[in-house]
Amino acid sequence: MAPKIIALGSGKGGVGKTTVALNLGFAIASFNKKVLVVDTDVSLPNLDLYTGLEKPLLTLLEVLNGTADIQSATYTIQMGLHILPCGSSLQALQEVNIDKLGDVISKLKKSEFDIIILDVPAGLSRFSILPMTYSDEVLLIVNPDPASISDAQKVKAVAALAGIDVTGIIVNKYTKSVYGDLGVKLGLPVLGVIPTDDAIIKARDTKTPLIVLKPKSSSAKAILQIARKLCGIPEKKSFFERLLR
Ligand SMILES: Nc1ncnc2c1ncn2[C@@H]1O[C@H](COP(=O)(O)OP(=O)(O)OP(=O)(O)O)[C@@H](O)[C@H]1O
Ligand SMILES: [Mg+2]
Repeated sequence: MAPKIIALGSGKGGVGKTTVALNLGFAIASFNKKVLVVDTDVSLPNLDLYTGLEKPLLTLLEVLNGTADIQSATYTIQMGLHILPCGSSLQALQEVNIDKLGDVISKLKKSEFDIIILDVPAGLSRFSILPMTYSDEVLLIVNPDPASISDAQKVKAVAALAGIDVTGIIVNKYTKSVYGDLGVKLGLPVLGVIPTDDAIIKARDTKTPLIVLKPKSSSAKAILQIARKLCGIPEKKSFFERLLR
């Protein structure tokens, strides 16, 4: 079966796309699925930094520029998770041909991965909308703050103009909020709500999968729940919940 391609985009930057892409990747890999996370943020990539794969020589930039193939730019990290990072070479960035992304994703569509997660650049430029056009599911990461909500609304509208249906949102950095139900506000299903959590910062700084470092944290539980939904795996019920049923 062809891999399912999931794009994680956002209006505002810094909402947690790279964090969620990586930790969702680990969570899905823990279900024995073959997962690839691709950093499609060619101008300001971060995935390499978050994984400890600092300054990888061959990356998506070289693949887009035709000087490397996908396999040689794909790295395997903890939990067997596969990463296709994007490099920071200014020269490669100057020469990048983003239109080649379609070819790269077509090739990935024929690969043996079960799930491919695209970490998409923030905003509504062509660089952000293009990866969404090749995805089976387009999810927006939204924080409960007015700018993030308003920018997500704009991305949803611009994506619709490009014929892309945003399929849902993931609320990240949730703290008690005065903004009500963001799903209702944006007219989109909410796949999950991830709280603001120090465990996420610790996982980032130690470059450890959140579900390994703090498996019982509320953020790890939320990410595992989203991962189950994306893979169609029924939710785990506790002994008492099963008893009550
Ligand atoms: N739920 C959370 N709780 C606490 N900190 C978080 C949470 N989610 C993300 N962060 C932190 O917020 C910062 C921004 O996250 P991240 O880099 O994943 O955002 P992004 O949307 O990918 O940003 P960009 O638009 O620049 O690519 C990081 O320092 C990350 O560790
Ligand atoms: Mg990012």
